[in-house]
Amino acid sequence: MIYVAPSLFAADFGDLRTEIRRMIDADANYIHLDVMDGAFVPNISFGATVISCLRKRCSMIFDVHLMIEDPIRFVDDFIRAGADIITVHLEACKDVKKTIRYIRSKEVRVGLAISPETPVEKIIPYLSEVDMAMVMTVRPGFGGQKFKPECLEKVRTIKRYAVSHNLDLDIEVDGGLNEDNTALATEAGANVIVAGSSIFKSKHPGHVIAKMRSNADAHPYKPE
Ligand code: DX5
Ligand code: ZN
Repeated sequence: MIYVAPSLFAADFGDLRTEIRRMIDADANYIHLDVMDGAFVPNISFGATVISCLRKRCSMIFDVHLMIEDPIRFVDDFIRAGADIITVHLEACKDVKKTIRYIRSKEVRVGLAISPETPVEKIIPYLSEVDMAMVMTVRPGFGGQKFKPECLEKVRTIKRYAVSHNLDLDIEVDGGLNEDNTALATEAGANVIVAGSSIFKSKHPGHVIAKMRSNADAHPYKPE
């Protein structure tokens, strides 16, 4: 079973209430919330205030992706705003261990992300301390980019490690995902699929999500 997490970054920001409702009706599992600070990534999105307003209207799982420098500074704000999962970037943390342990201590789920240029070896030492590993399949900071299939090798490595060490670990892929390449990601070992443009820009987001699920079911993890 996969979890589909539409990225709100691709929504109409002028009408978030309707956009969230469309995703509930489309049977999405999570809402993926991309927080960008204009420093770690060259773009700015929204912050904890917006998320706390959405929380009042929606009981879906909030999957918060922090693309911000030194994210530990803002963890409490995002927890207060209603985050269920907080993912930080390994490249952005001053102290990765301290940051992930802090998030865990607050009893929300913690994810650790790596950007395309970061070697997979860097994330391995932390896998036993997180609930989710995120492999970015585009450069962070922008929606609507082309999926980088070469990043899936990292998904395979992480999945192999998780299986061999008996870890209960979710593996999320983020960037350029659509109905056609979801199966490549699930075969490599991913079970959480973030998709912005392909879902929000569709007139029938429910069909896109259903197709992603059926393609994933037809292509489960295939160990080499
Ligand atoms: C990129 C974000 C992604 C992105 C996904 O920095 O983390 O979540 O918005 O959007 P698409 O699916 O359009 O690549
Ligand atoms: Zn994201």
